[in-house]
Amino acid sequence: MSKSSIRDNLGFLGAFLGQPGSIGAVLPSTRYLARALVGRLDLQPGEVVVEFGPGTGPMTAVIRQLLPPRCRYLGIELEPKFHDLLTRRFPTLDFHLGSAGDLPKILADRGLPPATRIVSGLPFATLPAKVQDAVVDGVTRCLSPHGDFRTFQYLHAYGMRRARRFRALMDERFSSFERIGPVIRNLPPAFVLRYWNAIREAT
Ligand SMILES: C[S@@+](CC[C@H](N)C(=O)[O-])C[C@H]1O[C@@H](n2cnc3c(N)ncnc32)[C@H](O)[C@@H]1O
Repeated sequence: MSKSSIRDNLGFLGAFLGQPGSIGAVLPSTRYLARALVGRLDLQPGEVVVEFGPGTGPMTAVIRQLLPPRCRYLGIELEPKFHDLLTRRFPTLDFHLGSAGDLPKILADRGLPPATRIVSGLPFATLPAKVQDAVVDGVTRCLSPHGDFRTFQYLHAYGMRRARRFRALMDERFSSFERIGPVIRNLPPAFVLRYWNAIREAT
């Protein structure tokens, strides 16, 4: 393991000990989970990619490699230390310090159109109902009609009340869903969840 990975892991563990509920994991995701989540994004020029909770950036590193020209990337991270690290590690990408629950305002403030992809690292199994509601509302409003939303949920936490609550909310809002995995080479193992075809309310 490289020195920077060891530093990342220790920083991540320290952040977890300070804010266990919002960090939701003791270690950053492995490259195996990153590939399962974003490895087949098949991005086209002009897409707008939003990442929730990039942490130390394991998914971000894969997304950056896949970004074609004229794509926009926006990472939204709540933890100031991670935001700071991300802006230094990925100087060509755009990161907002704040909550993914404020997505509509964050996109509007930057003059960005609806996102074609939203990738989430948020720990829904430990996020309070209020934050879950705001995130799911924002995703439904701000995802373009042909876009998709991807996230992961740890195997051991899959049956937890808040994890089930999040999936029930998403099932009400999206008509298409697939589950991949579990990716057992991640620590801890995790499922990848993908949602698309948002159910738009008739006006
Ligand atoms: C389980 S970690 C995942 C980090 C990284 N994506 C990975 O896979 O290693 C959850 C991340 O979500 C961030 N987070 C938690 N609540 C958030 C919120 N409301 N808005 C944005 N980021 C949030 C945490 O600070 C942390 O970086």
